[in-house]
Amino acid sequence: MNPYIRNVEYAVRGKLAIRSDQIREDLEAGVGEFPFKTVVNCNIGNPQQLNQKPITFFRQVASLCENPELLSEDKAHLVSQLYPADAIARAKKLLAMIGPSIGAYSHSQGVPGIRQTVARFLEERDGHPADPSTIYLTQGASSGVQTLLTLLTQNDKTGILIPIPQYPLYSATLSLVGATPVPYYLDEESGWSLDIDNLKTIVREARDQGVDVRALVIINPGNPTGQCLDSDNMRDILTFCHEQRLVLLADEVYQTNIYEPECRPFISFKKAMMEHPNKKIAQQLELVSFHSISKGMIGECGRRGGYFELCNFDYKVEEQIYKMASVSLCPNVHGQILVDLMCGPPRQGDPSYESYHAEVREIYESLRRRSKKLEKAFNSMEGVTCQPALGSMYLFPRIRLPEKAIAKAKQLGMAPDAFYCHEMLEATGVCVVPGSGFGQEHGTWHFRSTFLPPEHLFDDFCSNLQRFHDNFLKENS
Ligand SMILES: Cc1ncc(COP(=O)(O)O)c(C=O)c1O
Repeated sequence: MNPYIRNVEYAVRGKLAIRSDQIREDLEAGVGEFPFKTVVNCNIGNPQQLNQKPITFFRQVASLCENPELLSEDKAHLVSQLYPADAIARAKKLLAMIGPSIGAYSHSQGVPGIRQTVARFLEERDGHPADPSTIYLTQGASSGVQTLLTLLTQNDKTGILIPIPQYPLYSATLSLVGATPVPYYLDEESGWSLDIDNLKTIVREARDQGVDVRALVIINPGNPTGQCLDSDNMRDILTFCHEQRLVLLADEVYQTNIYEPECRPFISFKKAMMEHPNKKIAQQLELVSFHSISKGMIGECGRRGGYFELCNFDYKVEEQIYKMASVSLCPNVHGQILVDLMCGPPRQGDPSYESYHAEVREIYESLRRRSKKLEKAFNSMEGVTCQPALGSMYLFPRIRLPEKAIAKAKQLGMAPDAFYCHEMLEATGVCVVPGSGFGQEHGTWHFRSTFLPPEHLFDDFCSNLQRFHDNFLKENS
């Protein structure tokens, strides 16, 4: 067996998540006694699992593509009573681009017409040209990240800069390919900011130790930390990557989960690069940007759709990436359809325009309210501090644990934050992820929770966590 696989850890689906599945099964079977009736999975950004409604227009188009018989002439009258005209037109257009059936393999890089939709979306978002031949459709952002990290890894001396805390896709994939993670710490006190001088020191030290540092991963907006970079910081990051000859891997899957857009809007790294005062950076920096249908207000993570865009890659390297994409034949076509819809939603004047925007707005406003509510609840707890989420769908509070709790955790062979989260699950049914699963400053303890539980249950959810925390402190002080 490949020994690298043994080193892979993936906390968001780790021990606590497995235990939560077990509890759910027990509850359903009426086995055992628990002080709660349901398990609430806040360990993973999986909106539809917690009853977020799918976007109607997206599902209408997807269902028509799935069952093209509905588009035949003899069904036209019936179908026009069930589906709006723009959903019908869009399904026809997609099927014309995809070919006779969505059950066939597509082009390895993804359906060309869908890549054109992505390119148009990027051009409108950034105000700069995008080339469909440099866009790769993927099975969620995860498979794109895995492709790029595999591509970049030559041997165990290959180093990739990853943030701490980080989303464990990065550490897990680096373990799998046998590369060396080069961690850089985000500063919690200043809202999880990124310090360029610190990055410089880290790269110099790693290179002095023989690590061949090749790329920098930035998650913006951040997971688990929820920060959103400002334009000055982004410009400095781009200068740094250019000076240090680093590929920039920009994970931008939360680009529409932005909760204070007036003071901290999302800016893509592509835009920041194209508008950098040093023109050479726009022409030379190798940038990869990842996006996904899993997040935002869409939340179609089970469909596994996403894309990455390559900027300034040598065509010989692109050929190798194309070869890697070919090895898995193609990304699934259902996911590609959703990428098309995410990048080309209904436009003004289309029959579904108003209802589409009303649905997106409702989900967005609700997420924003829930993020503030949970942040407030965390900050009201004794010994807990929590930075606001400017973006993404998580909060990452810091917990100060009493000595007794730390000693108990040690006895059980658990990290103190894992012990806290374990106790939370057993007492409330709420499953979160210990900070140790993402990495954290030595001697600090955190956990990550989504704010996805449904809004009508959210006050109860918050007070449940507050009650648990008080009891935990009482029992362990
Ligand atoms: C920062 C980040 N990147 C990538 C992913 C992977 O998402 P997917 O593969 O579903 O697109 C996630 C999922 O939570 C994430 O949080």
